[in-house]
Formats: sequence, structure tokens, C-alpha cells
Amino acid sequence: MKKEEMTKLLEEIQGCSMHTLEEIQTFKNTYLGKKGKISLFASYMKDVPQEEKKTFGEMLNQLRTQAEKRLESAQKEVENKKLQEKLAKETIDISLPGVSFKRGSVHPLTKIIEEVEELFISMGYDVVEGPEVEEDLYNFEKLNLPKGHPARDSQDSFYIEDEKILLRTQTSPVQAREMDKNKEKTPIRMICPGKTYRRDDDDATHSHQFTQIEGLVVGENISVAHLKGTLEEIVKRLFGEERTIRFRPSYFPFTEPSLEVDVSCFKCGGAGCSLCKGTGYIEILGSGIVHPNVLRGCGYDPEKYTGFAFGIGPERIAMLKYGISDIRNFYTNDLRFLENFYREEGQNEGK
Ligand code: DAH
Repeated sequence: MKKEEMTKLLEEIQGCSMHTLEEIQTFKNTYLGKKGKISLFASYMKDVPQEEKKTFGEMLNQLRTQAEKRLESAQKEVENKKLQEKLAKETIDISLPGVSFKRGSVHPLTKIIEEVEELFISMGYDVVEGPEVEEDLYNFEKLNLPKGHPARDSQDSFYIEDEKILLRTQTSPVQAREMDKNKEKTPIRMICPGKTYRRDDDDATHSHQFTQIEGLVVGENISVAHLKGTLEEIVKRLFGEERTIRFRPSYFPFTEPSLEVDVSCFKCGGAGCSLCKGTGYIEILGSGIVHPNVLRGCGYDPEKYTGFAFGIGPERIAMLKYGISDIRNFYTNDLRFLENFYREEGQNEGK
């Protein structure tokens, strides 16, 4: 009797509809709840004769497992349905045009500085920094420019504190700083790019703030030959493989001999044109062999150690390379000017 009822119940469990959360809840209550049909059958166990208890128990288990299985698969089905509905609602229309945004470009001076840095790093140089608010001691004294030296006249500065602290007029003080503190690193090979300041009236070729890249090598047996080889590399990198350089004697207080470096004109190839004013060469940087007074002042024995130094003006390089006629363009941040660069470099595809 009970057996037939249980078989009927099993069929009922297998056949009942369960496609919504409500139906699932009803199923749970009807069959699996504390007062559900399965529990009810379980409560009959005590009245079942001993020899039938085993079969009865087995059937009861079967009923419970079947009910749980059905419940589980119905729950999965409903969850899956919900997910599909959600996904269908959330489809993104990728055919809509995207929101375009303006892409920035590297400032021409940063570009020149990075090119120079890369080259020198590849030759084993360190890229170092120095303070823009500098001591007179490093900006002038240690560079063989004592107080009253006439060469100071061309580098008037903005003074911060009496005559002792000023905005550096050149990156050369970093030479003295490196030599002072890094003797254990000798041979020193460093470049220092950075901002510099002079009390100049701004015009097409002067800016009270500009940039420089300083270079210094100090070691044993360093000669003009090393300087020439190094500068030739940098010139080829900046202006093209076919470029050559020439030295002209010059004067800087911290080098002896001092050498002005010209590059063969990249417009006419040396034949003579308006850019090189018919000379075939363009002046690009100052350099020389480190003055013994500078070495001595920074604790090096000039009998044992020698060195070379150079100073590059990124503004001048960029003006020559890109045909810019007014230095103020670098500092006024006019996008019409800056945009020319990524156009020239083919970087504006994303615009
Ligand atoms: N500091 C120099 C200037 O501002 C540039 C310069 C020339 C730096 C020769 C050097 C050098 O290191 O050797 O005009």
C-alpha cells in the first residue's frame, strides 16, 4: 500500500513543472520541507514491519535524492534563464562611432634631450641632475670664474640670497658637483640635462629660461681625440650619418683649450647656403679640455687626471633641426606650434 503510494509520489516528483522561482519554492515546501510529503512518509517508518523496513528505507532515500536532484537542476535552469535575459538586455552596440580624443605630442626640446640621453646611455654615461637654485661657488667659483672675472658679465642671473645663491646660468656647475662627490666613480662619464636661467631680455634668440645638456668625462689619459670621437657620434645622431664636425678655437674659463664645434651644413651638405651663411658649417656647441684649476678645485690631481667637457643647447639644436626662427615658441605653449611636431613625426594618426 505504502509502496504504491511512494511510487506514485516518485512519478509526481519527476513530472512536476518547475520553471519559475515560485514553482521551485512550492516544490520545496511540498516535498522537501519539514512538513512535506517525504517527511510524512518518513514518519511512517516506525509502523512498518521489521522485514519491510529495509526496502521502505531504500525507497525513502530514493525519493529524497530524486527530489533534491530535480530541485537542483530546476534551480540551475532558472538561474541560466535569468543570466541569458540579462545578457540579451546588456548587449553593446559596437557599431556606434567612438569618442575621439586629442593625442598629445612630445615637446620638441624633450625630444632632443631624450635623443641625446639615449645616445650617451648607450656609450656608458650616467644621466645626472643638479639643483636649479645653485651656489655661486659651483656656478662660478669652482669653474675658474672667480668674483670680478669679466666672463661673469655675460651670465647675469637672478639672485636668491645676497650674491651667494642664484638660479644657475649654465649646467656646468653639475660638473663640479659630480667631481666633488663622486671620486670613487672615476672615470666619470656623465651628462646633465636641465633648465638654466639668465637675466636676458627675451627676443627671438634669447630667453631668460632655457635648457642645456652638460657633458663631462674625467679619467686618466683623456684627450681631444676622445672629445672629437664622442661629439662626432652625437652630431651624426642628431643631424644625420653623413655629417662631419670641425673645431674652432674659443674661450671658456673652465676649459683649456676651448673648442667651438661646427657641424657640416645639413641643408646644403657643405656647399654653402643661406642656413650656413655660405660657410658650409653651422655652430652647434662649446667644448674643451677641463681646465687644471677646475680639476684641482674639485680634488683631482691634474698631473694624473684629465677630462673633456661640452655644453649643448637643445633650443639651438631644435631650431636648426626643425627650422624654428623664434626661441619663444618653445615656451609659449601654443598648440598651433606644438602640433607641427607630431605632424612632422607622423604621430597624429590618432587625432
Ligand atoms: N656653460 C657654457 C655656456 O653656458 C657651455 C659650455 C661650453 C659648457 C664649454 C661646457 C664646455 O662644459 O666645455 O655657455
